[in-house]
Amino acid sequence: MNEGDDLIRRDAAVFFHQEGSSPCIAGLSRASGMWIDDMAGNRYVDLHGNTCHHLGHAHPRLVAALKQQLDELPFSPRRFTNAPATELAERLTARFRGGHSKLLLMPGGSEAIETAIRLATIATGRAGIIALNGSYHGHGMGSLSLSDSEHDPRLRHRIDGIFHISPYWDEQAGGADGMLQSLASCLNANRGRIGCLVAEPMRSNCHVPPRMLWPRVAELCAAHGVKLIFDEIPSGLGKTGKFFAHEHFDVVPDMVVLGKALGGGVLPLAAVIGDASLDIAPELSIGHYTHEKNPMLARAALTMLDILEDDDLIARAAATGDLLHQLIDGHEAGPFRLTCRGLGLLRAVEFDGPPVGAEALVTAARACGLSTTTRDEKSLGLSPPLTIALEDTQLIAERLKQVAELVLQQHVKASGSPSLA
Ligand SMILES: Cc1ncc(COP(=O)(O)O)c(C=O)c1O
Repeated sequence: MNEGDDLIRRDAAVFFHQEGSSPCIAGLSRASGMWIDDMAGNRYVDLHGNTCHHLGHAHPRLVAALKQQLDELPFSPRRFTNAPATELAERLTARFRGGHSKLLLMPGGSEAIETAIRLATIATGRAGIIALNGSYHGHGMGSLSLSDSEHDPRLRHRIDGIFHISPYWDEQAGGADGMLQSLASCLNANRGRIGCLVAEPMRSNCHVPPRMLWPRVAELCAAHGVKLIFDEIPSGLGKTGKFFAHEHFDVVPDMVVLGKALGGGVLPLAAVIGDASLDIAPELSIGHYTHEKNPMLARAALTMLDILEDDDLIARAAATGDLLHQLIDGHEAGPFRLTCRGLGLLRAVEFDGPPVGAEALVTAARACGLSTTTRDEKSLGLSPPLTIALEDTQLIAERLKQVAELVLQQHVKASGSPSLA
């Protein structure tokens, strides 16, 4: 048995098995820039990176900054502050609500969603929460309860008072108009019970909502005294070509939640940034975490922000995203047609044509040197780092076209028909 297979076997023996995690497909030996290398010598463009690799893997400036921080101040116990954590809070709050904002830091996205819910509950005195059907907001008790309404009944430990409305991407339920109607009826039927609405401004399935949607949602929420919370854990920090994803939609939420890439893609860090008027309960523990103001995590985030700004990565994400779209959208291979959707470098590629199955698409992508996940039954995620060069978009597009050819060959073989190409 080779080293990689042996590692997969050891992993499967000691980790609880769960969907999407263990057992694994390969052991990794190296990650650098947009590339990941496995122990069997395969090299993939990382089009997934758990949506936290905005800087690419192992960015040298980030690595150097963390080594220095480790030497200077690696930890900060509660009640003490430190320069990196405070500077980070200053720089993040300066970007939200014209600086009239405050924040809390925590080590993960799920915890951040829980904290945002708690803040909204305290501010409104109401515990009801509205979420979109088919959403995902993490694995805490509260955040998991928000995620999807059709969960396996064995995962039944959920909090009460969650109301799911139809999402804008569900065309059968009327799309964005259907969502607005569903929201209005939910608010009217539960007057005085709902404290907040939690949603991603653009869901990670990369369906882009119409411009009119979020301003109308914000109006409805404000009329009912409901706090609007945007989960930008995957979509924030420049991924969509704007610092906050909601900047695409002429709307400012009461709170925005960042995570994933905030720790530079190497350390876990998340933030709840909210209007400063929410600072109303100093006597309560709203979100206390051991690594709340950890200077290593804060240094990772500060360096992440420095690199975003110095290398103009947000504008680059907008440009490379558009270019990828142009290179891929409309490409045909036999009965398959590729369509590209999304914003910036948070995109999905749909393989329109005969049904192939999501897992078959992922496997075909891997065979073509692309590591990615599904966005729905017909689509693959296209989420490379913001650091990719213009030439890299050619390589990625070529490989996606190879995936289409491979899928076509498999389809021809399975259907027994002569070549359709
Ligand atoms: C939209 C969204 N919200 C919340 C989370 C949870 O973040 P974490 O895994 O850091 O707890 C994720 C993670 O994938 C996510 O995609």
